[in-house]
Amino acid sequence: MRSDAAHPAPVTASLAADPAYAATRRIDALRATEYQHLDRDGHVYLDYAGAGVPARAQVVAHQERLLAGLYGNPHSENPTSAAAGAQVEAARRAVLRFFRADPAEYAVVFTPNATGACRLVGEAYGFARASPLVLTWDNHNSVNGVREYARAAGAPVRYVPLTGPDLRVAEADVVAALTAGRGGRRWPWRGAAGRGLFAYPAQSNFTGVQHPLGWVELAQRHGYDVLLDAAAFAPTNRLDLGVVHPEFVCLSWYKLFGYPTGVGALVARRDALARLRRPWFAGGTIRAVSVQGDWHRPLDDESGFEDGTLNFLGIPDVAFGLDWLDGIGVDLVHTRVGLLTGWLLERLAALRHGNGRPLVQLYGPATADGRGGTVAFNFRHPDGSLVDERLVARESSAAGFSVRTGCFCNPGAGEGAFGIGRGSLRRTLLARVETIDQYLAALRLPTGGAVRVSFGLASNARDAERFVAFAESTYLDRERPADAALAPRTRC
Ligand SMILES: Cc1ncc(COP(=O)(O)O)c(C=O)c1O
Repeated sequence: MRSDAAHPAPVTASLAADPAYAATRRIDALRATEYQHLDRDGHVYLDYAGAGVPARAQVVAHQERLLAGLYGNPHSENPTSAAAGAQVEAARRAVLRFFRADPAEYAVVFTPNATGACRLVGEAYGFARASPLVLTWDNHNSVNGVREYARAAGAPVRYVPLTGPDLRVAEADVVAALTAGRGGRRWPWRGAAGRGLFAYPAQSNFTGVQHPLGWVELAQRHGYDVLLDAAAFAPTNRLDLGVVHPEFVCLSWYKLFGYPTGVGALVARRDALARLRRPWFAGGTIRAVSVQGDWHRPLDDESGFEDGTLNFLGIPDVAFGLDWLDGIGVDLVHTRVGLLTGWLLERLAALRHGNGRPLVQLYGPATADGRGGTVAFNFRHPDGSLVDERLVARESSAAGFSVRTGCFCNPGAGEGAFGIGRGSLRRTLLARVETIDQYLAALRLPTGGAVRVSFGLASNARDAERFVAFAESTYLDRERPADAALAPRTRC
């Protein structure tokens, strides 16, 4: 017998009665016009943390712009080059406006994606024995990878752990990591000690946890520059660079408005950019260079960080996307996503097998407070064992859902979620492990990954309702299979 809680009221009934949800109705109108392609073939898109969805208007604007003018390689002064260059510069200004950043304080470096922005900082930051890297467990691999640059420079690398069932980070642990090895001295130090780099995500791409933006100033007070990963945060939250002043912000535009792909940005404080030392130069990044003289002078503004020819046909679409998102209102999107997230969390928690055991093992905060619209979990069988996330991937795909499964390139949050302790990692001979499946087997983990549902700009109540109905009808009271032929996991 299923409990009544396993049959929740339809979302459309409960959210429709909520005046806050009613106030976001404009998004439904847009869904019916600009995002019609989302509803083609009955598909349900729930992977906004993976990528946003482009509006029809954005795609049309791209086509119209390309057909209305001629745009050449911007590294020149001819008319088509100047036309392209002017659009790229307009896009830079649009980015600064969107984040309310002072152009005298911040510069915009266009990159291929958020990862490219992290790499620019990692490879050029002045890591040294006295200039450490501090980062939270909860980080995307594109930020984790910065540790390899730090290590190569002999810099200490310190991770701040996740704590408690919400998988948040305790501020005391942040302070402890920032002050470790400083011998109790307060910034600014005299002598050899340099600054350090503190890297954390404004929002977790695994659990949806929003880590405090106040840590930017906290870290700066302790003599650190801050790399704020806004890739998961910016699509549904206001980031105001007039209020918080991180040295570096990385993001990818397709996560905000679906298109263009292949364009991201490093939004950087000009003073911090001037302290970076690039390990190489490339076309477009230098003021002067000599082959026989073995000498070069880098450009000292944002161009000094943009290697080769920019995506000059795609970057102007960023300006359109930002205007589009501004026109809808990031705060409106935030409200809607928050309501859908709260509803989903409540309903998933209420689903019980006939024996009363919960269907869902949630990772991260159980309410919508202090978190974004990304919800990670595993289903459980009635005997409490976990449903393999690869099975959920297969079955949810077959049922027309786009959800994500795995560890979402965030192994630290995964280690926190699955209770992997330092002890078990030490005992395990990681050196002999080559694949993610061997790693999981060595740790004797009950699962190798989670299921992730994420909401975004065009999400509606029906999307959430359909996923809960799928979960109920597919996994409630479903006994653990004797075996299931599942493909090996290929990456984390
Ligand atoms: C929080 C976070 N940071 C960084 C990235 C890397 O973004 P990209 O793959 O676009 O470089 C992602 C991508 O999912 C992300 O979610």
